[in-house]
Amino acid sequence: MDDKDFYIEALDNLPALVENKSVKEQFQQVFYDFLQLQHLYDSAIEVVKTSLSILDSEFSVKFQRNPIHNIESRLKSPQSIIGKLRKKGLPLTTDAAQKNLLDMAGIRVTCCYISDIYAVVEMLSQRDDFVIIKQKDYIKNPKPSGYRSYHLVVNVPVYLWSQKKYAPVEIQIRTIAMDFWASLEHQLKYKPSAAITPEISEELRVCAERIAETDMQMQRIFMEINNLD
Ligand code: GTP
Ligand code: MG
Repeated sequence: MDDKDFYIEALDNLPALVENKSVKEQFQQVFYDFLQLQHLYDSAIEVVKTSLSILDSEFSVKFQRNPIHNIESRLKSPQSIIGKLRKKGLPLTTDAAQKNLLDMAGIRVTCCYISDIYAVVEMLSQRDDFVIIKQKDYIKNPKPSGYRSYHLVVNVPVYLWSQKKYAPVEIQIRTIAMDFWASLEHQLKYKPSAAITPEISEELRVCAERIAETDMQMQRIFMEINNLD
């Protein structure tokens, strides 16, 4: 059974809750719109991933190495979408989600070196069918927490059966070292019982600084070994 059948069957099994036919039809419409939205965003993720994989294999052919260490992607869950719309005081509609939430489709690219991050950014910026709608360089300007990564939101065209539609994809690009810090810091901070004092926050920021120094040192070693400027 696919997702759509699952929802329709679930709705058919709610006669006590939804006796009014028009209410039931409205529910069905919302579910159907949501499934279409999920499909669009999922497809947009695939388009970006293909683009990244082509860049990675091109580097492999030209320079005998892979700039991309790992790619992860996720679609924001319906619960998180609803939670975020509520927090922003917006109506719980697919329309409001599409207009206001730019991180429903997310891709995280982990690169080997800092210079690889900028190669990925350049490749994405050069594509004339991708429209960059948000761009933040948290490597040149780290967050007060110490967080470092390059963030892009790109509007990506998806060629559907009878039309072309655009969907925004949030792309976070970071080195393995930046990912190490961000993953652990996130785990530590988002534990419900975590008591993060200002001292601990400062200590985490210092860790981020040290990791950034190591990242730059690894970059220098890489350039030296490969006789690059
Ligand atoms: P959101 O509504 O949270 O998406 O805010 P925004 O659009 O201003 O995005 P921002 O550029 O702040 O980045 C949001 C995402 O970056 C988060 O969902 C995290 O994945 C990541 N991020 C941002 N700051 C931090 C940080 O201090 N620590 C960690 N671990 N991740 C962070
Ligand atoms: Mg977010």
